[in-house]
Formats: sequence, C-alpha cells, structure tokens
Amino acid sequence: MRRFVIVGHRASTTGDFKLDDICGGAGRMDILIRCINSSFFLSHSLRKDVEAFLILQGGEDAPKTLRFKGDELRYLNPDERSTASLIRNALLKKLGESEINASPGIYVSRRGLREVLSSLVECGEIVYLKEEGEDIREAELPEDIIFVLGDDRDLSEDEERVLKEHADRSFCLGPISYHSDHCITIAQNEMDRRV
Ligand SMILES: C[S@@+](CC[C@H](N)C(=O)[O-])C[C@H]1O[C@@H](n2cnc3c(N)ncnc32)[C@H](O)[C@@H]1O
Repeated sequence: MRRFVIVGHRASTTGDFKLDDICGGAGRMDILIRCINSSFFLSHSLRKDVEAFLILQGGEDAPKTLRFKGDELRYLNPDERSTASLIRNALLKKLGESEINASPGIYVSRRGLREVLSSLVECGEIVYLKEEGEDIREAELPEDIIFVLGDDRDLSEDEERVLKEHADRSFCLGPISYHSDHCITIAQNEMDRRV
C-alpha cells in the first residue's frame, strides 16, 4: 500500500471558500487537489492501493485532515472544481473528536501532522520527500510506504522535527525542485517500476 501525506500550510479548514477561488481564498487548495489527482488517477481507472492525506493548516478551524481511500472512492473526477466541491462538503460537516466519513472514500478529522504520522507508524515506512535527500533511484523501498511532502512551501523546521520522530530516510526525486503533484507522479512511477 502506498500513502501520501501532503502538508497544506494555508489550506482552508472551514469550507467557506468559493469554488472559483481555490488558488486564493482556499489557501492553495488547487495544489492539494492536483496531488489527489496524481495519487489516484490512471489513464482509465483509479489506483485502489493508495491512500492520501491532506493536512489542512489554514483558517480558524485548523488543523483538519482529509483522508482519501482509493478502494472506496466514488464521484472523484479529474477536474479540480468537482474535487474542491467534495472537499468543501467534507469541511462543512459537523466534527467531533473522531474521524467521520464525509462521502464515499473521503474522511475528515481534526487530526494534524503529528497525529496522522503517529497513526501510520504501523502501516509501513514513513519517508520524507526532500530535494536534499538520498537519490530514490538508488534506494531499496518497501512495498508499504508513506511519502510525506510539502505544498508550495517546504515543511517548516517544526514540521520537520515532528516528521523526523518517525522518518529516518529522506529521498530526492531528481536534481530540481518539482511541484508537489509532480513529485507524487514520479514517486508512483518509481514504485510501479519496482513491482
Ligand atoms: C513545490 S516544492 C516546495 C517549494 C520548493 N522547495 C521551492 O523552493 O520552490 C513542494 C514539495 O515537493 C517536494 N519536492 C520538490 N522537489 C523535490 C525533489 N527534487 N525531490 C524530492 N522532493 C521534492 C518537497 O517535499 C517540497 O516541499
């Protein structure tokens, strides 16, 4: 199982954004939506063996985490607007202590990065995607793996500290800085080639 954890530093947690403003008012939710696309979409189907976590850290109700589960997902389409609508509906749900199911394959909770990473420790190796990391091409990778990456901003020093409690290895995907969704595509390709 592959998992991707993307830290959305300014991404809205309140769901009161306009669908025409996902790059602005929603705190670069467009980046996170493209990460969802790269996590799941194949040419003619969805990857079922993938889970993606969007850690939303913007707005007055932060943090919240959206969990997308490939084998349960329905109504996910490649256009950013319809996914923004699924996200907005999830964020408008009344939320208590526990994670709730907002729509098929989409879950929402009040967890932040630390809680999400702690919950994933038993699920596989947690690794950090970082430009200064070890070359992924040279690395042995387990089948059960959790990739952690930033949005348009790198992880802050505090976030890196939290991550390093759980991740021993950092991997570089290439010699230049890529968009987050492209990083996911490259990581997927690396994993696909090793099966
Ligand atoms: C758009 S980048 C963040 C900003 C970027 N560091 C910059 O200076 O413009 C988004 C995230 O993708 C990951 N990333 C980007 N390029 C990478 C690379 N070559 N190798 C590994 N991870 C990378 C990192 O996790 C990074 O935080």
